[in-house]
Amino acid sequence: MKKKIPIIIDCDPGQDDAINLFLAMSSPAELEIIGITTVAGNVSISLTSRNARIICDIAGRPDIPVFAGSAHPMKRKLVTAEHVHGKTGLNGIDIYEPVHPLHEMHAVDFIVETLLAAEDESITLVLTGPLTNIALAIQKNPSILSKIAEIIMMGGAMREGGNYSPSAEFNIVVDPHAADIVFHSNLKISVLGLDVTYQVPATQSRKDRIRAMTNEVARSTSKMLDLFDRFAAIKYSSSGAPLNDPCTIAYLLKPELFTGKQCNLTVETESELTMGHTAIDFWQVTDRAVNVNWVYSVDSNGFYDLLIERLSRFDDRF
Ligand code: RIB
Ligand code: CA
Repeated sequence: MKKKIPIIIDCDPGQDDAINLFLAMSSPAELEIIGITTVAGNVSISLTSRNARIICDIAGRPDIPVFAGSAHPMKRKLVTAEHVHGKTGLNGIDIYEPVHPLHEMHAVDFIVETLLAAEDESITLVLTGPLTNIALAIQKNPSILSKIAEIIMMGGAMREGGNYSPSAEFNIVVDPHAADIVFHSNLKISVLGLDVTYQVPATQSRKDRIRAMTNEVARSTSKMLDLFDRFAAIKYSSSGAPLNDPCTIAYLLKPELFTGKQCNLTVETESELTMGHTAIDFWQVTDRAVNVNWVYSVDSNGFYDLLIERLSRFDDRF
């Protein structure tokens, strides 16, 4: 029996963050979710924190503590994405005051204290929002670096340009200075950017498969997907919205679905025109040192087979 992977999920729910949390919660045999930390991004910190708690309620996971983190980026003004995720951040889901409590400890303190108490290289960080909390934790106590097994994150873009600006992806451009700290940390980092997430659109046939499911988690996923891809269809006239964040937990559960390459990734933190751009030296045309595993391809059908099979595991809960 493979050992469970202890993880902390830092996120900004956000519909795709929410589906990623469901995917993680569907896999207790493989993943030990030590805690969920939230950051401002898709919507404000109060909403991302409430939304993470609602997701824990829906999935029936009172065992997972939720901690609120940074309300704004390290240096820049917060930008949000209500136009994609809706004013609540969870378009499609009925919003209510969740039963699931919010821990009073700040997320950055939780991350630092948990890592300091852990064995070396023992905890995996799954990051699906702006990187503010992680960067602040590293600055607060760099000794945590030796406790991190690896970072698996959604962010950046190479061939796909940007979704926030012509050259920048949202998670990175919201807090490029935090991203710069993380990419200079010398940690083992796998980055799943738009190049790979655009290969997993929630097409109608895939949404129909999820809509046919009856458990509460799958129904919540289906309701969110119906609205999540409305923006994508208008903006990109695409066949379905990319399931960006669920690529991170899918990568952790079935890495064989993905292909990556060791590259240098450097973040633009000066130019306003290209702020937050991720310059990925895929063909090693510079002497910049390799610092990430840039994940650029995925078995799209295999990804959805995994997601749907795992969502079905909530059947016997409701
Ligand atoms: O660019 C997509 C990313 O930004 C996703 O993580 C989405 O949830 C937003 O945080
Ligand atoms: Ca996110």
